[in-house]
Amino acid sequence: MRPLLRWAGSKRQMLGPLREMLPREDSIYIEPFCGSAALFFDQRPKRAVLSDINADLINFYAACKSRPRQVFRLSGQLKRTKAEYLKIRKHSPAERSKIARAAYFYYLNRNCFNGLYRTNRQGMFNVPFSASRTGRMLSEEEFLSACAALKSARVVSCDFERLIKENLEPEAFFFLDPPYAVKHRQPFTDYNSQAFGESDLQRLLVCLKAIDDVGAKFAITYDSSVSEKFMLRKRWRQSEIIVRRNIAGFADARRNASEILTTNF
Ligand SMILES: C[S@@+](CC[C@H](N)C(=O)[O-])C[C@H]1O[C@@H](n2cnc3c(N)ncnc32)[C@H](O)[C@@H]1O
Repeated sequence: MRPLLRWAGSKRQMLGPLREMLPREDSIYIEPFCGSAALFFDQRPKRAVLSDINADLINFYAACKSRPRQVFRLSGQLKRTKAEYLKIRKHSPAERSKIARAAYFYYLNRNCFNGLYRTNRQGMFNVPFSASRTGRMLSEEEFLSACAALKSARVVSCDFERLIKENLEPEAFFFLDPPYAVKHRQPFTDYNSQAFGESDLQRLLVCLKAIDDVGAKFAITYDSSVSEKFMLRKRWRQSEIIVRRNIAGFADARRNASEILTTNF
């Protein structure tokens, strides 16, 4: 099943190797950096928690769970033109009802440059319209089936540390796909105005130990250049996954990059 959204860093290109590593037993699937949740939609686990710091994104999933038809219809009524896009983009999400906010979020996601999510300091979405690098709108059937898959998930908007601490139990399986830590903001690749920094990475490493200590499982994918940081315990395993990147959206920036998958099982 296709995810509902386009998303920078989506795991769609890595689904093959990720499917192979998933734990077999009936665990609770928990994704604290869910984004478009490509692996969740591919696997459709029976019990799940999807979370992200992006409140607009989580509002979209919540609306898709409760009012999928309304979200689909409202977004489908909007014209796919630059003028319409700019009109929708300039309204603050806070001024809209939850359903309208979700429908507009979906519309902007499908029509913006490369499916990026970026806001200015005032929290206003500011990714440009793209006439060519857009994603097709899903058919009603595709959209509604993906929304139905969300029924098995609790959706939460919060920082990863809180979500992990609140869900530490032996049956949990955490799939972690954090943004790469950056020292400075990178135009066009930030997910929101608060980029993931070195101190966030350190908090995440503490969380990995806490997951392991409680007897739960985790799998984390990350930039191969800093992979050694994740081998905090000898029995944890690492493998390389080759992924085709196109975040920049320009042909010369598309290249194969490798990520390292670290698991504690
Ligand atoms: C690489 S993307 C995840 C992509 C996802 N695996 C997919 O298939 O689309 C990383 C996500 O982490 C979220 N994020 C960034 N900082 C966070 C934080 N401190 N806590 C929780 N989520 C965060 C971003 O909003 C973004 O959606």
